Amino acid sequence: MTATSTRPAARARPFNWLPVKIWALYIVGLIPAVWYFYLGATGNLGADPVVTFEHNLGFWAIRFLLATLAVTPIFILGGPNLIAYRRALGLLGFWYVLFHFTVYLTLDRALDFSAIIPDIVKRPYITIGMLGFIMLIPLALTSNRFSIRRLGPRWNKLHKLSYLVIIAGVVHFVMSTKVLIVEQTIYIVLTALLLGFRVFKKPIMNWRKERMKAKRLAKA
Ligand code: HEM
Repeated sequence: MTATSTRPAARARPFNWLPVKIWALYIVGLIPAVWYFYLGATGNLGADPVVTFEHNLGFWAIRFLLATLAVTPIFILGGPNLIAYRRALGLLGFWYVLFHFTVYLTLDRALDFSAIIPDIVKRPYITIGMLGFIMLIPLALTSNRFSIRRLGPRWNKLHKLSYLVIIAGVVHFVMSTKVLIVEQTIYIVLTALLLGFRVFKKPIMNWRKERMKAKRLAKA
């Protein structure tokens, strides 16, 4: 959910890789939600369709949030420049959390607020999920050119909240399953790598610059 970048690294390679139109990414990104809805509506989502639907929406939320955070490292490590897709990926993550939350409120809890409020307040994994969702709202609302221009450098600071959002999402997921097996481990490792990259971004960028300089000199 970050801007079509004006950062120095992005300027160094000005041409964004755009093999797929951004609107097409939104359509493709929403296919899992429509597909699981269809399966549920036609009685093909297993013994507990509401929970399966809810879980799958939650997983797609995490996947899109991770994909959003992967855009910068992929570029800095020499991969394609997918920055033009970053906002769409982040917004898809937001939409999936919103769908997940809506299914929880309606199909799971039937809008019974006498059960929902204690859930949110007293069950730590739901409290953490809710915090993740609340932090996502300002990010989604400011994912547009107008806000980027208006907020200036504060925009980048605000969007660092996305690091806390993914931590909340993954902790919520692991706590809700109460186990730590392959699936949970994969999401934890991916999150740690993507956030670890931010911690070591400067030395990594310096190392890449040195490597490119050495290559250029070797060619000359
Ligand atoms: C960043 C936000 C969130 C993410 C990424 C997320 C993701 C997930 C994932 C992946 C699961 C599946 C766990 C499993 O396989 O058992 C899950 C479960 C669940 N989530 Fe979320 N979630 C988020 C926010 C919320 C919110 C705001 C609520 C409600 C207030 C919520 C309620 C639930 C519930 C009730 C379950 C367990 C359903 C059950 O097993 O009965 N989540 N979430």
